[in-house]
Amino acid sequence: MPDKDLTSLTIRRPDDWHLHLRDGAMLQAVLPETARHFARAIIMPNLVPPVVTAAQAAAYRDRIMAALPDGMRFTPLMTLYLTEATDPEDVRAAHAAGIATAVKLYPAGATTNSASGVRDFEKVRPVLDVMAEIGMPLCVHGEVTDHDIDIFDREAVFIDKILKPLRKKVPDLKVVMEHVTTQDAVDYVRDSHKNMAATITTHHLIINRNHILAGGIKPHFYCLPVAKREAHRIALVQAAVSGDKRFFLGTDSAPHVDAAKLQNCGCAGIFTATNTMSCLAEVFEVAGQLKKLEAFTSINGPMFYGLPPNEATITLTKGDPVPYPDRIDTPDGPVTMFDPGFDLHWRVTG
Ligand code: DOR
Ligand code: ZN
Repeated sequence: MPDKDLTSLTIRRPDDWHLHLRDGAMLQAVLPETARHFARAIIMPNLVPPVVTAAQAAAYRDRIMAALPDGMRFTPLMTLYLTEATDPEDVRAAHAAGIATAVKLYPAGATTNSASGVRDFEKVRPVLDVMAEIGMPLCVHGEVTDHDIDIFDREAVFIDKILKPLRKKVPDLKVVMEHVTTQDAVDYVRDSHKNMAATITTHHLIINRNHILAGGIKPHFYCLPVAKREAHRIALVQAAVSGDKRFFLGTDSAPHVDAAKLQNCGCAGIFTATNTMSCLAEVFEVAGQLKKLEAFTSINGPMFYGLPPNEATITLTKGDPVPYPDRIDTPDGPVTMFDPGFDLHWRVTG
């Protein structure tokens, strides 16, 4: 059946392979927004202070489970924040005990709460060697932080200067290049034959840099890596709808209260947890590839991580525009929801 005639789609329950849940009151407020549709998520460790050790990851996992409303099912897959002082044996033990699924690499200073990230990649080599040995993936924020590199070039330069040499040195390491934003990254991942995958966010499939900057500045579209020009967005859509198993969903849903976004130096992050599945259905429908949605949200990710896909399903139904709220209220203040700029006709109905 052509996509335009489809009004209902049942797929395996999706997972989110890159998610910020924060802590405390914010965690409590945003967790149900993800757990409503998603079975599992890779949880980012960039809290203040960051989640560095196995013990910190276990404690954070407990706080997430305690914040889960009664009757909701959700499995947080924890990550450890890689620092130059990370103990390889702590990583090994965290993986063996099922506490940590992956390790997160932030180049120091790349984004929100990344000051403890890596400056000298040789210093983390022993950790990477252990991870390669035990098959534990490294999730990478793929941007260089050099002030003399243009912010729109930081992903492409990271691939050449950091990622390629790193993968040569540790070829058996499984690497997820997260929230890719460029044709360069898509090409690099597509040309890699082993141990390499990428997540793509909801918002990078929908906005380009004009959405942020043309006709007035839109702080709620500001995130890192920053959205690039339209040709790059098109490359991301092609990768996502292709069914290629190396590309899968990582929303990077990153809540900040409006007061933190709307200031002289506003925070990077877009909150998409609530309406992601509606947004994605629209993107895949426009591309004429609705039947590939399941691969992107529910199959390719678990396959790369060596986990079984979910047995449970969700059903998306097409109808009148879905009235999502503009923002969710949290005890810390309102968090604005991603506005895709077009009506969303698909809703999760079961
Ligand atoms: O836009 C972003 N927000 N990018 C990141 O890498 C971090 C995230 C956050 O934690 O707010
Ligand atoms: Zn992120």
